[in-house]
Amino acid sequence: MASSVITLHYHDQTKHHFRRFARSVGYLDWATQPDPFRRYDGAPVAELPRARVADAVPYAALFDGTAPAAPFTRPSIAEFLRCSMGLSAWKQYGASRWALRVNPSSGNLHPTEAYLLAEGRLWHYAPREHALEERGRLDEAAWTGWFRSPSGAEGFLVALTSIHWREAWKYGERAFRYCQHDAGHAIGALRLAAALLGWQLALLPRWSDAQLATLLGLDRDADFPDAEREEPECLAVVSGGDASWWVARDPEALVDAARMAAWRGTANRLSPGRVEWPMIDEIAAVTRYPGGRDPEAGIRGPGSGIGNRRTLAPSDAPPHRRTAAPSHQRGTSARAILLQRRSALAFDRESGLSRDAFAGMLRRLRPPSPPWDAIDWLPHVHLALFVHRVEGLAPGVYAYLRDPAVLPEWTAAMRQEFLWAAVNDPDDLFLLAPLDCRRLANRVSCDQDIAEDGFFSLAMIARVESSLREHGEWFYRRLYWECGLIGQVLYLEAETTGGRATGIGCFYDDPVHDVLGLSGHTWQSLYHFSMGVPVDDPRLTTEPGYGWETR
Ligand SMILES: Cc1cc2nc3c(=O)[nH]c(=O)nc-3n(C[C@H](O)[C@H](O)[C@H](O)COP(=O)(O)O)c2cc1C
Repeated sequence: MASSVITLHYHDQTKHHFRRFARSVGYLDWATQPDPFRRYDGAPVAELPRARVADAVPYAALFDGTAPAAPFTRPSIAEFLRCSMGLSAWKQYGASRWALRVNPSSGNLHPTEAYLLAEGRLWHYAPREHALEERGRLDEAAWTGWFRSPSGAEGFLVALTSIHWREAWKYGERAFRYCQHDAGHAIGALRLAAALLGWQLALLPRWSDAQLATLLGLDRDADFPDAEREEPECLAVVSGGDASWWVARDPEALVDAARMAAWRGTANRLSPGRVEWPMIDEIAAVTRYPGGRDPEAGIRGPGSGIGNRRTLAPSDAPPHRRTAAPSHQRGTSARAILLQRRSALAFDRESGLSRDAFAGMLRRLRPPSPPWDAIDWLPHVHLALFVHRVEGLAPGVYAYLRDPAVLPEWTAAMRQEFLWAAVNDPDDLFLLAPLDCRRLANRVSCDQDIAEDGFFSLAMIARVESSLREHGEWFYRRLYWECGLIGQVLYLEAETTGGRATGIGCFYDDPVHDVLGLSGHTWQSLYHFSMGVPVDDPRLTTEPGYGWETR
């Protein structure tokens, strides 16, 4: 099968339908539940400092680049990891106790592992202990020769991998999608934690996945004797200034150094047994990134021209019982918001969102501000929103274009009866159909109340078929990363309004397309999302992520 056919075949095979879910074992086999914490037995462990380095940075600085640049020291690197991939809480219900993390994950299964390469040493981050495990030591001269920039700017590398089995244990074949969403959320978490410290973060497009596997020791069979393997996802540079020098750097000398490195540690086995999902191995292989892309070339967002816009009259929608508004974001601590992010389990069904907060959060979803400067492609994902309670907006189905050039394509691709009435705040938000769409949103999001009970829910609609054809199969993963980045921004924005959000990976794919009138594979829904005022479950108790931190 040609590779693009394999990717679209995987995509179709892992769709949920009203009468049939994507293939999984269909029950939770608790005996093989994967350990959420990877460790490398025998690798030296270095505990990380616990100091709060960036307490005073205001939330808005995450996006406007005004946080003062921290020096590259152990406490600041520890803070970077703590505020991106660390633990945010421990929850308990009866005898069950589980950790939550700063980065969200479908089913809280956390397939994403993080690595750090600094001063020639490769470290695996162990979030439970907030510690680093030394996996490899590269030749110092080789490291310095590769990393030291002519400007003398400091920094380090950070990488992400996925352990597919963690998600496949619960979700079967659809799990590869969730691993990619989670990787996108983690990229967003890393980028915004870098912004907290006044640093830049950029993915390195010249590195192939094979080169990354060598750099991280993932291709060392002897270190994974009976452990679940890790799939390389991405490598990024974190720097105090412009990252373009590292972005353009040829990887090969550093890959050679990794081949000659002194390696330590053996990966732990996460489950006593596992179910094989050959389709996941196949889609992983087909979407591996071949690397070598010229960073100057970049990847544009397709589309052209601006179509006709009709202007929408102000809505006479009734006011809501309680309205969540942007809370003086200047004063809100960015660190506090990053660490308090959680998924809502249920919403109160009555609170509304202020128009300012809604417009503000949509604007944050567009480049070039962080986290969008971490990636080198322009928007390929746009939003179809199911608005329930946003002040001054009629309930209904809306479109928000993250790139206005896509308007003519979307108007042509979607239902002819849609209004496309421009809502001028923010730009490029359009009312398609005024209606009470609460039941509809619930139904298409796998009958989940969270899609119905909040301020709004939404579908992230990605340009799939032509992107794969133009860029390559590897771009399939990036489309999910883009969705994860959108989700990560919205999770944080929800917290600043006094609301809360929840990612929604479970939705009925083609029924969503039917609602919008989309056909074929040009545009596909890849991720749903919801936001509202949360209703907590009083049976759950909460403790801090780390015993040494009090709240
Ligand atoms: C990609 C993704 C898909 C998710 N899908 C759903 C979903 O369909 N329904 C749901 O209730 N929660 C969903 N969640 C929320 C997760 O269950 C939640 O992130 C996880 O339990 C960890 O909790 P936390 O976000 O509070 O840290 C999803 C989260 C992510 C990142």
